[in-house]
Amino acid sequence: MKVLLTGGLGYIGSHTAVELLDDGYEVEIVDNLSNSKEETKGKIEQITGKKVVFYKEDLCNIEKLDEIFKKGKYDAIIHFAGLKAVGESVEQPLRYYETNLLSTINLLKCMRKYDVKKLIFSSSACVYSMDNELPFKETGKLSPLNPYGRTKLFIEEIIKDECFARGDLSAIILRYFNPIGAHKSGLIGEDPNGIPNNLMPYITRVALGKLDHLNIFGHDYHTKDGTCIRDYIHVVDLARGHKLALDKIKDLKGCEVYNLGTGTGYSVLDVVNTFNSICGDKVRYEFAPRREGDSECNYADASKAKNGLNFKTKYSLKDMCESAYNYEKNNTKK
Ligand code: NAD
Ligand code: UFG
Repeated sequence: MKVLLTGGLGYIGSHTAVELLDDGYEVEIVDNLSNSKEETKGKIEQITGKKVVFYKEDLCNIEKLDEIFKKGKYDAIIHFAGLKAVGESVEQPLRYYETNLLSTINLLKCMRKYDVKKLIFSSSACVYSMDNELPFKETGKLSPLNPYGRTKLFIEEIIKDECFARGDLSAIILRYFNPIGAHKSGLIGEDPNGIPNNLMPYITRVALGKLDHLNIFGHDYHTKDGTCIRDYIHVVDLARGHKLALDKIKDLKGCEVYNLGTGTGYSVLDVVNTFNSICGDKVRYEFAPRREGDSECNYADASKAKNGLNFKTKYSLKDMCESAYNYEKNNTKK
């Protein structure tokens, strides 16, 4: 099976490429490198011992995308490409709507023209209304809090409409919870530009002395230790979820939605304490005011993916912290 990964040199895409290549899939990648590096292609090849065809193109450019599809003869597409920084999306909503929606519409046009019938899409837990009962179920109320989340919700709807209109297109929408960690090789991982917004890359940089201390946003939430709760999932488990979705989509008609999480919530302090037990208490932290837009607590109902995709996570919070630390150390040497 030949699969095109859009945004495949990014954090989740690169780990998925490794899992698919290891499993015998033929993988091609299109990425504009707006949030990734070309050297990641070589690292994917180094880990797997297999070759990857890479196109440095922007999905917003339909002529270039068309050329890729003309050559490709893909059996399936996994669509990771997009902008993903929540805060930035509040400041630059039009850039987010334009990039995320236009790239998806172009992709769907090419899939229609070249008769590609299988699509897996990276959605997010942030499409859920925070009023839903915990754990979040796929059938829960949808009401994203920011433009980034709204792009995900709109894309979900566009994909459902296109499945209905075409009749022969099947899609799996995966709503990721909080992916962290890295591949065990230490060659690929999460490497954001500038000062990280997300918790784990911030922690690893404090541990390596690149940042002074972690600010924990809020310690007066109604949780066991006052800090927010999230469903952290090892990125390699998440990547394996895509392989299972590809297995499922072979015989699927229409569109299905699955949460990808572990089903367990951990607090920010749980993550910091676990990390500190591994690195020898190098992560200094201070309590800071709440971050605007943060929800107190969210974690997945993971039962639909378990039953429908046979998805079960393997890795613990300790594994996630160890692999993230290993990647940051490895990345710092060079
Ligand atoms: P990432 O930024 O590491 O990867 C996205 C990749 O897409 C990057 O390599 C970037 O260069 C590329 N890209 C962006 N716009 C493009 C365009 N117009 N044309 C071609 N390439 C383009 O992000 P990630 O963490 O790997 O996330 C992958 C997907 O999963 C995204 O759609 C993201 O919104 C979604 N998601 C991520 C998380 C998370 O916490 N990381 C959670 C939920 C959903
Ligand atoms: N946090 C801190 N200090 C930091 C960074 C984060 O205390 O320096 C806290 C946050 O307040 C939150 C938790 O750590 O309580 C996790 O924050 P992240 O920024 O790592 O992740 P979010 O849950 O805010 O959002 C992430 C992705 C979204 C995705 C969502 C899905 O950034 O794209 O998970 O649940 F949609």
